[in-house]
Amino acid sequence: MVTRASLKGKDDDLHMKEHKRLFITGGTGFVGRHLLPVLSQQGYQVRCLARSATHKRLASLPGIEWIEGDLTEANGWSQMLKGQDALIHLASIHEGSPQLIRRINLTGTENLVSAARLAQIKRCIYLSTITSVDNPKLHYSHSSWLAETLIRERMEDFRILRATLIVGQGDPFLGGLIHFARRWPFIPIIGSGQTKFQPIAVEDVVRCLVQALSEERYLQRTIPIAGPEILSLEQIVDLLQKTLHTEKRKIHLPRRATRVLVSALRRLHIHTQFTSAYFLTKGLFTEAQSVENQFGFHAQSLAEILHSLVEPKSLT
Ligand SMILES: NC(=O)c1ccc[n+]([C@@H]2O[C@H](COP(=O)([O-])OP(=O)(O)OC[C@H]3O[C@@H](n4cnc5c(N)ncnc54)[C@H](OP(=O)(O)O)[C@@H]3O)[C@@H](O)[C@H]2O)c1
Repeated sequence: MVTRASLKGKDDDLHMKEHKRLFITGGTGFVGRHLLPVLSQQGYQVRCLARSATHKRLASLPGIEWIEGDLTEANGWSQMLKGQDALIHLASIHEGSPQLIRRINLTGTENLVSAARLAQIKRCIYLSTITSVDNPKLHYSHSSWLAETLIRERMEDFRILRATLIVGQGDPFLGGLIHFARRWPFIPIIGSGQTKFQPIAVEDVVRCLVQALSEERYLQRTIPIAGPEILSLEQIVDLLQKTLHTEKRKIHLPRRATRVLVSALRRLHIHTQFTSAYFLTKGLFTEAQSVENQFGFHAQSLAEILHSLVEPKSLT
């Protein structure tokens, strides 16, 4: 007997099959490196854009094809996208000159969306940021806002997720803090350390992306995603020290002077463990329980994330 439930099951199967061929940007980045193995394992066929040599470990994943290209170069895009069912757009930069941020985050998105339309792709999943805002003074946040707007206007079937701070294996923020806690005689904290974060595990972001890709209820929605707790930088450091069983002194550094120094070093190609998130004053948080309410599962707490990072093997 064909029941409503079995019909729905068939619809879901059909729906999944219809969106099994994906085009992904940013697959070599932090989130991409966690997403690709999951998609590969779930049987998706993924064509992945990479600017240069591909990530070695990911290169051998079944179902993943790598093609070389740069989002800012408009040529040949629709050919690359031909035959794909959906896009997952992860590529962006958050540091650099305002012109470069705009060129990659906005012009790059424009190129991608135009090519997707030519290739008759309708579905686009875009991982944006909770800081997305219509304020031209905030270059990265504004570029995300403009990219979101473009996708909403031009992609019939968009699904936009706005993430807070994403953490996990290979993220520079927690990775940097772990580095300080293990290798430095003290832990530097920028300013008062009271800037608030609501970190979300990268595995949970991947789960939300896969759900957004495959379930109709996310159609044409823009959804904030965040972890279950809002914590100050100082609280994050305390939790990290507890997990690592260290008791290093916390030393507060002046925000502006440290930022000037870190930027000067970066211009000399000397990279420090200080990521841009350390210098935020406004914080990165949203409503609690957003993952549970919208995606129906418990997002990992920071303690759980830290345990999985620190205990089985060394991160840094
Ligand atoms: N990480 C977070 O905490 C966080 C929080 C909120 C939102 N997000 C958003 O989530 C998305 C993924 O973040 P992520 O942390 O994975 O970023 P990421 O590690 O910085 O990776 C960025 C990716 O973009 C690619 N890319 C940059 N410029 C490109 C260009 N011109 N053409 C083609 N590809 C280009 C990079 O490729 P290469 O390997 O060639 O450099 C890399 O794969 C981004 O849109 C970001 O804004 C991230």
